[in-house]
Amino acid sequence: MELSNIIAGLWRQPEWGLEGAELAAWTREVLGLGIDTIDLADIYGGYTVEESFGSALRADPGLRDELKLITKCNIKLVSERRPQHQRHGYDSSRAHIVDSVERSLRALGTDRVEVLLLHRQDPLMDPDEVAAAFSELETSGKVLEFGVSNFTPSHLEALQSRLSRPLVTNQVEASVLHLDPFQDGTFDQALTRRFRPMAWSPLGGGRLFSGDGEQEVRVRAAASRIAEELGASVDTVAYSFLLRHPVGLRPITGSGKLDRVAAAVRAMEAPLSRDQWFDLWTASTGSPLP
Ligand SMILES: NC(=O)c1ccc[n+]([C@@H]2O[C@H](COP(=O)([O-])OP(=O)(O)OC[C@H]3O[C@@H](n4cnc5c(N)ncnc54)[C@H](OP(=O)(O)O)[C@@H]3O)[C@@H](O)[C@H]2O)c1
Repeated sequence: MELSNIIAGLWRQPEWGLEGAELAAWTREVLGLGIDTIDLADIYGGYTVEESFGSALRADPGLRDELKLITKCNIKLVSERRPQHQRHGYDSSRAHIVDSVERSLRALGTDRVEVLLLHRQDPLMDPDEVAAAFSELETSGKVLEFGVSNFTPSHLEALQSRLSRPLVTNQVEASVLHLDPFQDGTFDQALTRRFRPMAWSPLGGGRLFSGDGEQEVRVRAAASRIAEELGASVDTVAYSFLLRHPVGLRPITGSGKLDRVAAAVRAMEAPLSRDQWFDLWTASTGSPLP
């Protein structure tokens, strides 16, 4: 199964004011841009976003089979929608994973998700229990592929050691404003294991445009200059920075505005030169290369 190179994220969907047929029409436009993969999580919108996306799938029944859905589990939020949760915590038990997926499928009104991710590194994760949950979900056809999010390489290895199939991704924060996974072994592990990570908050959650810290000001200046050289926009340059890495990063967009989603797609046609890439890198770190 191939996911699209750019993924549309729905974390901020509650801010968009789109539901049902309008959200279905938005998703059709996104598909038209070449994005067929949608990033969700049980907890998004305080356990509401999957239901909203389900309302879109019900409004346009043909849509489901054209899409690949990613959802996540293992974070427990205190919410009136989950009265049994006493405190904010993590739960990677077999029972919680299976129950969470079944709730996600009901909310979405579908019989399977293409990819399930463990949302956060959980210090109490027992890899054997996770393996049992994954095996049950795979056998029942409720989940086609499995991955993780915000995992260190060693935590990923611990889980992988119990699985018969390779994890397909590690979804992590990565942007020209957040270089950690380029340097802490996260992307090296993905290169070694030949999986493609996903990059969340590819525009620093909007800080690329609104931040007034020294790093943001430096990066914005460098990205603006490169944008002018390429005849592209600053957001396209930020996505190009991610796409240039040989690990094959898949950036996840966060905006409901279609022109801003399109800016990510245009990055595939606007490759950065090595010099432009290192200009952004040093603007981000604030120091020259050694
Ligand atoms: N696995 C995880 O732990 C995790 C964590 C966080 C996020 N995610 C996933 O990653 C996705 C993307 O994260 P994100 O929303 O933080 O991504 P982002 O693209 O870094 O940030 C989106 C924010 O930037 C603003 N923005 C985008 N383009 C802009 C422009 N040209 N000018 C000014 N502002 C602009 C958006 O405003 P507008 O909305 O007004 O366009 C929005 O507030 C989420 O939807 C979610 O699916 C995963």
